[in-house]
Amino acid sequence: MSLPATLPFAHQLVKGVLPPGGWAVDATVGNGHDTLFLARSVGAGGKVHGFDIQREALERAEARLRDNGVAHRVTLHHQGHHRMKEYLPPEWKGKVSAVMFNLGYLPKGDPTVITRPATTLPALSQALEWLSPGGILTAVLYTRHPGGAEEADRVLRYIHELDPRAYRAVQYRFLNRRHAPSLIAVFKPGG
Ligand SMILES: C[S@@+](CC[C@H](N)C(=O)[O-])C[C@H]1O[C@@H](n2cnc3c(N)ncnc32)[C@H](O)[C@@H]1O
Repeated sequence: MSLPATLPFAHQLVKGVLPPGGWAVDATVGNGHDTLFLARSVGAGGKVHGFDIQREALERAEARLRDNGVAHRVTLHHQGHHRMKEYLPPEWKGKVSAVMFNLGYLPKGDPTVITRPATTLPALSQALEWLSPGGILTAVLYTRHPGGAEEADRVLRYIHELDPRAYRAVQYRFLNRRHAPSLIAVFKPGG
């Protein structure tokens, strides 16, 4: 047995709770790798909503989804994730099986456009509200870029304060690698 890398482990955890025909959200679409993973996982009967503030990211993701024949399963929003509750279908409230966050900046994009605590924290809170019992939220945190360590710290402090009766939260990180990303997973019991 070997330990999975951070992103594959996030996918493994999501795969374990996301049923075919399910509903999922990619809160940071970026180049669309996670969006594609979610769109494949929900299958033909499922649906994914994705958010990003950069048009460039959404165009790259859209092309990836189209090339893989799953674009019709995904609605992309050129909006900040802190506004997800305005853009998700109202009937999704409390019924979303998985929400993925991959914080930081767009790989091969402008490194100064980054996720920030002022919008990340409200987005996390909304995502938890929209999760179904049995659902999972994952967040990958990076500390190498300017602003990353502060954001990771704020997110961890927020997660530490979650009511343990309502959520089970874990952290996965390679300790002997400098600036290794952290994976946070929050499970909503039930379902
Ligand atoms: C690390 S990248 C995501 C990578 C992506 N998951 C993938 O598979 O390629 C982070 C993304 O978050 C986006 N972002 C920054 N602030 C945001 C916000 N407030 N709401 C939504 N997306 C945001 C950036 O534009 C960037 O594309």
